[in-house]
Amino acid sequence: MYRYVGDISKIAHNIVLNYLDSFDVAIDATLGNGHDTDFLVNHFGVVYSFDIQKIACQNYSNKNISNVNVINDSHENFKLYIDKPVDLIMYNLGFLPGANKDITTNHLSTIKSIKSGLEILNNGGFIAICVYPGHNEGKIESSCISDLIETLPKNEFGVMVHKFANRSSSAPYLVIIEKNHANMKE
Ligand SMILES: C[S@@+](CC[C@H](N)C(=O)[O-])C[C@H]1O[C@@H](n2cnc3c(N)ncnc32)[C@H](O)[C@@H]1O
Repeated sequence: MYRYVGDISKIAHNIVLNYLDSFDVAIDATLGNGHDTDFLVNHFGVVYSFDIQKIACQNYSNKNISNVNVINDSHENFKLYIDKPVDLIMYNLGFLPGANKDITTNHLSTIKSIKSGLEILNNGGFIAICVYPGHNEGKIESSCISDLIETLPKNEFGVMVHKFANRSSSAPYLVIIEKNHANMKE
């Protein structure tokens, strides 16, 4: 219906393709059905994809894609698995459409994960977070994310929120965090 104002995941992908400098390492923090990981494996050297649901991990592992490491663990544990700077971290929060709505991301682990992500993010790297405040846990998660991003030091992180202006306040929205390029290795 609209070419730009629509699927926030697609907007995130396009922002990444247009503005990210380095495409070496990416994390999909919420693998699910693997649509974001499909995008990442096509554009990044190596991808780490996390999900707490075994079935999601098994399904993606069965694709036998060589540049993805599928990790059946919570995304607050990035540092247990990744010991190099990361260029992009993508979150698609909430629950899988059509699956068990009780298995949803949780504000406590989401915030721990984003904080850990900010530390392992390369200078010039991006974190893209698709937020879905239209369910109870999503509302809490959204509020905690706002509290966190509003306090990030502006000389270290650029933060932009993409929201629909003429939809309900519980419509999905996209957060982009960009780590300052200033200290980028030449
Ligand atoms: C909205 S879905 C992700 C959609 C996915 N990106 C895609 O392309 O299909 C959210 C996923 O996050 C997963 N999840 C929930 N809590 C998690 C956690 N703490 N760590 C990693 N994954 C989690 C859920 O199991 C679910 O598969």
